Amino acid sequence: MTDRYCVFGHPVAHSKSPAIHAAFAEQTGEAIAYTAIEAPLDDFAGAWHRFTAEGGRGANVTVPFKEEAYRLCDTLSARARRAGAVNTLILGGNGETYGDTTDGVGLVRDLASHGVALRGARILVLGAGGAVRGVLEPLLAETPASLFVGNRTAEKAAALAEDFRDLGEVRGGGFEAVAGPYDVVINGTSASLAGDLPPLPDELFAPGATAYDMMYGAEPTVFLQWAAERGARPLDGLGMLVEQAAESFFQWRAKRPDTAPVRDMLRRSLSAS
Ligand code: ATR
Repeated sequence: MTDRYCVFGHPVAHSKSPAIHAAFAEQTGEAIAYTAIEAPLDDFAGAWHRFTAEGGRGANVTVPFKEEAYRLCDTLSARARRAGAVNTLILGGNGETYGDTTDGVGLVRDLASHGVALRGARILVLGAGGAVRGVLEPLLAETPASLFVGNRTAEKAAALAEDFRDLGEVRGGGFEAVAGPYDVVINGTSASLAGDLPPLPDELFAPGATAYDMMYGAEPTVFLQWAAERGARPLDGLGMLVEQAAESFFQWRAKRPDTAPVRDMLRRSLSAS
């Protein structure tokens, strides 16, 4: 019987995960079926348990269920515990649920694949919500010189940075406390969704700096347009999406897909849309 996987979200129809995992399965010769399931907002746990009762072996979890997924797990990876969120569920042999988060490692791998050095870098991360919490541990593991979390609500950034103080040189504050230059600036706010730009100083970027938006679209986000105008190299989050999927696939199937052709395929279909 074909092993079943899915992505849970609400809404989920737009998700690219089924196409990504179908490409990974074809590439690696793994016989899996991967679908998108819209879980009810008030019963995520029920949706997961129904899925496993019907033969589901694992799942990805997207907005708005990552924290709920975290709460239902019997066992968590260390990085998921730090993140307070789970994007990858695995059904264990005796029916228990194991949770992991692959978003942060996805970001770090995508940056690496574009030749962006994090060791010794001065990093600015914008935003202090769940998306940012999920990437701080893997970023700090790369031993940057410093990491500043800048957020509209200063106290949230300070509190978030405090939670990761044991892992490296990390501080947090409001946008007014952002003082460049930075080598790598990562936008993890949801401001791009609304077409907004966080208020940032013009002299934000060091020479050769990279600007990364965890969002992506057919067109560059306002943040990336703004950054490119100031000389930074713009990268969007499409590669992170593919890399986090590849790490989930690895957790389930113990095979590492080649991500570059899948990223290129998605890029082509985005530009065509
Ligand atoms: P996610 O799970 O995507 O991280 P979230 O936890 O709701 O979502 O966090 C959204 C982040 O985007 C927050 O850091 C938020 O700033 P506040 O903490 O001040 O609310 C930030 N954000 C959302 N809209 C924004 C905007 N228009 N300008 C700047 N920051 C914004």
